[in-house]
Formats: sequence, C-alpha cells, structure tokens
Amino acid sequence: MKNIAQLILMLSIILLASCQQKKSDPASIIEQKVDSVLKLMTLEEKIGQMVLYTSDWDITGPTLKKGYLEDIKNGHCGNIFNAHTTAYVHKLQKIAVEESRLGIPLLFGYDVIHGHKTIFPISLGESASWDLVAIENGARVAAIEAAASGLNWTFAPMVDISVDPRWGRVSEGAGEDPFLGSRIAEARVRGFQGKDNNLADTLTLLACVKHFAAYGAPQAGRDYNTVDMSQRVFLDTYLPPYKAAIDAGAMSVMTSFNELDGVPASGSKYLLTDLLRGKLGFKGLVVTDHTSINEMVNHGVADNDAEAGLLAVKAGVDMDMQGEVFFKYLKKQVDDGLVEEKLIDEAVRRVLRVKFMLGLFDDPYKYCNEAREKQLVYAPEHLEAALDMAKKSMVLLKNNNNVLPLKKGEKIAVIGELAASTRDLLGSWKAAGDWDFMKSTLDELKLYNGEKNIFFAEGCKTIGNDRSGFTQAMATARKAEKIVLVIGENWDWSGEAASRTNIKIPGVQTELLEKLKALNKPIIVVLMNGRPLDLTRENELADALLETWYAGTMGGKAITQVLYGEYNPSGKLTMTFPMNVGQIPLYYNAKNTGRPIYLPNDKDKYKSKYIDSPNDPLFPFGYGLSYTTFAYSDIKLSSNELAAKGDLKATVRVTNTGKYDGEEVVQLYVRDLVGSVTRPVKELKGFEKIRLKAGESKVVTFTITPDMLAFHRLDMTYGTEPGDYKLFMGGNSRDVKEAGFKLK
Ligand code: BGC
Repeated sequence: MKNIAQLILMLSIILLASCQQKKSDPASIIEQKVDSVLKLMTLEEKIGQMVLYTSDWDITGPTLKKGYLEDIKNGHCGNIFNAHTTAYVHKLQKIAVEESRLGIPLLFGYDVIHGHKTIFPISLGESASWDLVAIENGARVAAIEAAASGLNWTFAPMVDISVDPRWGRVSEGAGEDPFLGSRIAEARVRGFQGKDNNLADTLTLLACVKHFAAYGAPQAGRDYNTVDMSQRVFLDTYLPPYKAAIDAGAMSVMTSFNELDGVPASGSKYLLTDLLRGKLGFKGLVVTDHTSINEMVNHGVADNDAEAGLLAVKAGVDMDMQGEVFFKYLKKQVDDGLVEEKLIDEAVRRVLRVKFMLGLFDDPYKYCNEAREKQLVYAPEHLEAALDMAKKSMVLLKNNNNVLPLKKGEKIAVIGELAASTRDLLGSWKAAGDWDFMKSTLDELKLYNGEKNIFFAEGCKTIGNDRSGFTQAMATARKAEKIVLVIGENWDWSGEAASRTNIKIPGVQTELLEKLKALNKPIIVVLMNGRPLDLTRENELADALLETWYAGTMGGKAITQVLYGEYNPSGKLTMTFPMNVGQIPLYYNAKNTGRPIYLPNDKDKYKSKYIDSPNDPLFPFGYGLSYTTFAYSDIKLSSNELAAKGDLKATVRVTNTGKYDGEEVVQLYVRDLVGSVTRPVKELKGFEKIRLKAGESKVVTFTITPDMLAFHRLDMTYGTEPGDYKLFMGGNSRDVKEAGFKLK
C-alpha cells in the first residue's frame, strides 16, 4: 500500500491541477502540477529539492555527506547521485516516497558517459568515428542499461571544446571542432533522452550538458585552471555545442569549475541567466559541478560558503552538488531577506518540472524492475553495438608497406602491459563497467590467431622506469615474424585531474620500442590513450600506428578485428596531434596571422613560426588512413555565386582506388577570405561517411547555404558578410581539393 503522505500529495496534485486546468496541453498540465506541489511545500522542503548528495558509493569527492538518509527522510535532500542498481535505488526511493512528509521522489544521477555496464570507447574515441547514428545509438544503449539499473539522470553529454591535449578531460569530449562537436552533442542528447525527448519512457535518461561554460580551455591545460578568452571566441567556438545540445532538448545543464572573464561559472548571472535561460531559451534545471559553489571562496569572489551560495542562487543555480551550501545557509538567508523566496520557487519549479516529465510522480519506482535490469544489462545487442563502435573509433595513423592487416597464422609477438589489461580498456568514467567480465587484447588475439601463434611479454610497465623486462621482451620478439607493441597511457592518465605537461608516451615504453626496432622485424604499435600524444618518435620507429583510445568492454576484440582486417579502419582524428608539446594549442581552424608561412622551410626569420620546430602537426584534424586508398576528383560547384537567400551545391567524386572495401569520411571546409574581423583558415561545415567497395566511386554533394557562413561580426551581431570564399573537400583538413565562390 502507498503511504499516506504520498496519497495526500497525489490527491492534492490532481485536485489543484484539475481546478486550475484551463489548457490541456501536456506542458501546461505539468506546470499546473508543479504549482500544486509547490504550494504544499515548506521553505525547508523547497530547499531540499535544490540539494544533491552522493550516496555512499561515492567515487568522485572527498566530502561524503554524513546522514544523507536522514536528510532524505526529512525532505532536506531531494536528489542523489552515484547510487545505482535497482535494489539500491529502490531502497533510497522508498525512504523519500514513504518516509518523507510529501513523498516527493528523488532524482538519481550518475556519470554515464560512454556506457553504463556495457562500456563503449571513451567519448573522444567515439567522436573519431564521425558516425552520428552509431554515436546516438551508443548513448541510447547507455541510457537503456542505466535506466534499467534504476537511474534517471546522466551527467552527460560533456560537450567542452578543447584545443589542449595537456588537459586530461579531452578524453571526455568530442574534440576541437565546434561544428562536429555540435552534431555529436545533439546525437548524444537524442540517444539519452530518446528521439522525441520522451523522458516519460522507462528507458530514457535526463541528459545533462556540461560543463557550462568553456571548461575545455583552462590555461596551460591544467585542470580547473582559469579560462580567459574573447567574447567572440567564446560565442563562435565554445558555445555552439552547448547550444546544440539545448536545442536538441537537453533538460539539465551542469556548471563548470572554471572562471570565465573573472567570474566563476557557478556564480555567473551572465552565463546561467542572461545567456543560458535568456538567449538560449533553456527551460531545464541547472546543477553545479561537485562543490563548485564552495570553491568560489577559493576563487576569491566570496568570503565564505554562505556568501558563495547567495552568488550561486542569484546567478541561476537550481541545485547544489555535494556542497551542502544551500542546505546549510539558504533558509536563513531567505528568512533574513537576503534572497527572495520567489527565486527559490523558480529553482524548485525547474527541479519538479523534470521530475514530472520523467513520470516519477506517477510511478517513483518505474526504473526499479530487477527482471528488466537482468535482461537488459550486457544484452547481446549492446555488446554488439559496443564492438561496432569500438572498431569505428580506431584511427590508422601509419601503415608503411601495408604491414597491416596481419595474416592469420603468422607468429606474432605481443608486447606491453596494456595488451594484457582489461581495466585500461574501459578508460575513465567507466560507470558500472566491470573489467572482470571482459577479455584483454591479448586474450582476443590468442582466440583469433591461435594460442601457439601468439607470444607474450610485458616488456615494461606503462609507468615507471623499470627495464628489467626488456630482455624477455626481446627474446619473445625474436621468435615472431611481426611485433605488436601495445603502449600508451594507463586509464587514469586521462580524464578528470589528469593534466600533463609532457604528452609523450610515458615511462620507458618508447625505449622498449627502440630496442625492438633493432630486430628488424615489422613493428605495429597499438596505442591506448585518452588524448593526442606527441608520437614523433614512435612515428619514426614503427611501421604501423593504430590509435585505439580506450575502446571499452569489447575493445580487445575490436582491436583484433581491425589488426586482422576483419574491419577496415575508418576513424578520423577529431583533435590535432601535434609534433611536440610546445606547439600547443595547435588546431586546424586557426587564423592566418599577418606573417603566415606557406612552406615549412620558409627562410624568412620574421614569420609566425618556431626556430626549433615546424608549425605543422604530426597528424592533422580529420586525418586517418584505411587499408584501401581513396581518390578525390576536382570539386564541381553548381554556381560560383551564392545568393543571400539561396544555396549552392558542391560535389566531388570519391573513388576507392585500393584493394579493400572501405569507408571514407568526406569533409567540407570553407574559408571566408576577407571579413570585418579575421576569419579561420578553414572551418568544417559538413561531412559524410560513405562506404565504397574496392574500385567503386560515388559522388558526394553538399548544399551550402548562407547561414552556414555566419559568425559574430565586428559589431558582435551574428550574421554573414558578402565577399569571396574558398571551399575545400577532402579526407582530412590538410589534403583537400579547392574551389571558390562569392557570397552576394
Ligand atoms: C566532474 C563532473 C561530474 C561530477 C559528478 C565532477 O568532479 O567534473 O563532470 O559529473 O564530478 O561525478
């Protein structure tokens, strides 16, 4: 039987709503229900809805709130994160629903970033697939498994643009480009919230766009560091993916830890109210990042937590993650007249609104079905989707003399600690992913090529300088025809709080590669890492380089299938790989400067260049090889002029000129040659992933419309400027065909 409190609540909602019900569209019915509940709430209960605590399964923070079960019971905590499994969620929800005065159900949040149990490749890896359907499906699978495990809210998608591989959290994003980042942000929101944002479904999750805003640009790549950029760069480069996710219907947003233009995001009225709610029209709830209200004291914009809380609530924060600031100080601040209760009401409305949208008031236990959990977690089709995505995410960076694909039956030496690791394949934010469930790359290679054809030696650890395993690695390699060396970073060398000043392969792994090179056998380097690395030395030594990121639950199998040509690699980089750390930030959509160099060996000293390094990246944005080759025809334009309200078609014929069937990501870039402000030398404006049989060719057509060319002009208005444009098409941002047109 339902408890009395909940019955009273339900009756009041129904009664009040039916008395007031003038319009009958679902949104206004929800508004009326929200008002009905709000009217029943004490100020303390309202503030409780603005509180989010981690359960005792805390993984992120040091400040585990004691006594949170009591807080739920007393209506002082309306939301929980890091709790999952139907049984556990049910237990906590029952306390809220049956033991608190009003029985308002809890939200259950969790960092379901690239899978819940079935783990997909890290987000940066997924982005390298350039496959929006597969990316959406990855988020869908994550939502299905998480919702079946009791959750209703994911702290994803993370959409922070970044051009700095020193920052460990580039692994969680979609790379450096605002256009691609926006398309991926939308795809992930659709995946989490369902195609029509059907939050009421039992297998969708409330999405949370993070970290608002510009968290991806910390100075020197150091996590949580100061962000300072021009308003124009912010609006044109960093804002678009947040906007795209909000336009796609995401109903929650997380603030970021950083300051922007001197104001920490969790206290920024400009960001949270004027821009997010005003300009972008966001209707959902704003949650802070972990204790980021308290951190405003360290930032130096508040004297103490109480003052920081006032800044946050006045800026437009609705929910305090783990900081205990609203919980401790907000009631007194309202009582003392420091903040109006109507501001609190607005925040609570936004929280209740999503709880109604999720259908939690109708059935607070809707996510708690143990049989469904058992059936859906690790469902075969989920593992299949994770395998598919893992293969699509991998980027072939080098393949001299077609050393890849490997041939079945060849004797292979597999070297490297990472080859035998399962934990590392999951990457950071592995949610409920379980590495005991899965197989390592080594296991999968043995399964595929036969135990007798695979010889393994660890060689060295990923981190540290112990060379004692080198001798055995050399002996092992001597027995083989080819060497597969699996090197990179341990999983916790990327992700949050994993910034680096040096982006080379750590430890003595490259030294081991140098030693192995002396054996004169083909060496295939399989890379596992969560950021662009300086691979200059590895590129000199290895015959083939395959970037596999952290490829998830099915990663070992995916690596095996790619190495053996069961899948022809099709991934393309979504972040530039520099030649060295000193070139950072290095990104394709840069400005020309007044002193550009057009040839790497330009002798003129007074040019925008280094005296000790080329300007060029090692591998440019959009780059990735295949076991086959593709040729591009010249570009054909339907017209050399684009009318202010017209469109023009750009076509190119792409031919598979090699021996394998394969996929190619055809990329479209433009350049605005003269503007009222300086414009990037290239900007991605479209892409299409096509599949071509060996020998086959296809015409790819892009439609260019003026709105694709809009930017923030000198006077900060958003729009286009007439004039000459260049248009480029190709398989990466460097090797392109070129045409020109005029915007009238
Ligand atoms: C991270 C967020 C994450 C939150 C909750 C923070 O440290 O910055 O991305 O969602 O923890 O786990």
